[in-house]
Amino acid sequence: MDNKKRPFSEKTSRAPVSQRSQSFEKIKKGSLGATIKAVIDDIELNVPMGTTILEAAKSINVNIPTLCQHDDLCLAGVCRVCVVEVEGQRTLQAACSYPITAPINVKTYSPKVRRGRRNIIQLLLRNHYGECYSCSKNNNCELQALAKEYGIRTYTFGHIEESRYEQDDSSYSVERDMDKCVLCRRCVRTCIDLQEVGVLEAVERGAETKIATYLNKPLDDVICINCGQCINRCPTGALKAKNSTEEVWTAIDDPTKHVIIQTAPSPRVAIGEEFGLAPGKSMTKQLNTALKRMGFDKVFDTNFTADLTIMEEGTELLLKLKDALVNKKKVALPQFTSCSPGWVKYVEHFYPDKLEHVSTAKSPQQMFGAIVKTWYAKREGIDPANIVSVSLMPCSAKKFECERPEMDDSGFKDVDFALTTRELAGMIKECGMDLPNLPKAEFDDPLGTGTGAALIFGSTGGVMEAAIRTVYEIVTGEEVPFNKLRITPVRGTEGIREAALPIKKAKSDWKFLEGATLKVMVGHGTANAKKIMDMLCRGELSDYHFIEIMACPGGCIGGGGQPIPTSPEIREARANAIYKEEEGLPYRKSHENPTVNMIYKEFLKEGPCGHLSHKLLHTKYTPRGKWIGKKKVAK
Ligand code: SF4
Ligand code: SF4
Ligand code: SF4
Ligand code: FES
Repeated sequence: MDNKKRPFSEKTSRAPVSQRSQSFEKIKKGSLGATIKAVIDDIELNVPMGTTILEAAKSINVNIPTLCQHDDLCLAGVCRVCVVEVEGQRTLQAACSYPITAPINVKTYSPKVRRGRRNIIQLLLRNHYGECYSCSKNNNCELQALAKEYGIRTYTFGHIEESRYEQDDSSYSVERDMDKCVLCRRCVRTCIDLQEVGVLEAVERGAETKIATYLNKPLDDVICINCGQCINRCPTGALKAKNSTEEVWTAIDDPTKHVIIQTAPSPRVAIGEEFGLAPGKSMTKQLNTALKRMGFDKVFDTNFTADLTIMEEGTELLLKLKDALVNKKKVALPQFTSCSPGWVKYVEHFYPDKLEHVSTAKSPQQMFGAIVKTWYAKREGIDPANIVSVSLMPCSAKKFECERPEMDDSGFKDVDFALTTRELAGMIKECGMDLPNLPKAEFDDPLGTGTGAALIFGSTGGVMEAAIRTVYEIVTGEEVPFNKLRITPVRGTEGIREAALPIKKAKSDWKFLEGATLKVMVGHGTANAKKIMDMLCRGELSDYHFIEIMACPGGCIGGGGQPIPTSPEIREARANAIYKEEEGLPYRKSHENPTVNMIYKEFLKEGPCGHLSHKLLHTKYTPRGKWIGKKKVAK
């Protein structure tokens, strides 16, 4: 297999130059070859030229507080919480953005520093309106933690008593409460720089500065893709995901309702963090116990429909290839995956004329809803009107997805409520359950079987790996030529990865593919999606067949509904847990899932992409473009 990684790790950005880190990166960490002597709190060390004071301090376990700094984002240097005293400098300096380029003597907790930091935190609190006990970030708020750490007990500079901003709850996915905003601009850098969407911006000046959308419109009326990445990086409760907890409790408490929940793989390796576990501990079976005790009638595995997705999406690809190569029809290739609703909305806004490239297969969440309210309802003799279909997802965009009007092919709303990992953790805590110490339980029949291929959907590259395992075997009759089925070229964290798989021998149905080379690509985060789409627009992807895009950095394990904080290390630990769990499963290829095969035999009788599959498991998209504005301009 011929594989290569594109040199796309370097950031390009539409962000203002002042918000970019590239120029700083150039002199960073020894790129000029020199090391410099630094003294931090009387501890001597040598650091590569260009290391920041913050990084140097970290390397010797000296903790400097930060607020606007985030490991995923470029520098902003706007909050000044990280100030330190540098010998020879009249004013305090921001440690996060001070590169060491000459010998330096730094004090990180001198009286002047402590006074300075306390004043800065007090100034932030002065404009902060909101009560911690009713805030979604209570006990996980960086501002609250700073106030506690610096012993703030009174409002030295006063405190506003009234709300200044209207809350924006227009979106199905993300809510904004600017009364709690500290103007750190992490959301702005996330949206502009990390995701290259550009919904949020700092507007006005001085005391009037605020974070706003285009023309201050409700989030629902702008080009937000609902990825929730801004929520994951907001240090306060100013941004949060829509909460469906109460609706789900009401359904559980209603004896006339049959409430089922499907759980996706990514929340299962992350929810332990909400209970104090280190990232990367799988809680799948403890979670099954918690959900059953909470009162869900059935606990099912989204991996079942992830396998179904591979069957549908893989078949769709093969049929397109046949149309192109045998029937000489004009088809939209490469085909793009469709299971990330943030990505789908991104294409709808930014590349509406390329929507025909996106697979019509619904996401696993939505396929599940459609199967539950048709096949499952009939088999169990339950009126689908009485089924409440809930999902546990890593994702805020899934909330939007299940509200799409076209997602009702079962005759009902396919999925009623999508809960994020954070929401479900809150519900479990409300029941007084200590998740990590619960006994283990299996998923329920009949929709509790998923393969390893489905499990790895949770990480960037996982959908592609699952698809290759199945498509290659369908076409050649042989297993993919990779040790332990690990298709390593599509794994990893590089922003864009690609692989080429020669098909030396093909079965009779697929003879037209013999001698061909299957070329695939993987991208995660919409900034990388943009690069790929621009390549598509320039005609540079004409020899590629299948491309996986996940809207969130790292894929679903880094989704906007996952536990906060997030960082590259946390996402890697979650991904490793998924790959480890995968290798212990009895089935590791989607086409081997016995329930999937049974469903095709009993229900979707024409097979993948047949008539009924098309009706229930496929969908259509909406070319939205960049200008919407269907609602009134917000105050
Ligand atoms: S954002 Fe933080 S400080 Fe503000 S109310 Fe919420 S928990 Fe409290
Ligand atoms: S949800 Fe995503 S697209 Fe929407 S504002 Fe936040 S980062 Fe931007
Ligand atoms: S909304 Fe949150 S992330 Fe954005 S500037 Fe305000 S506090 Fe920072
Ligand atoms: S963390 Fe350094 S200026 Fe905000």
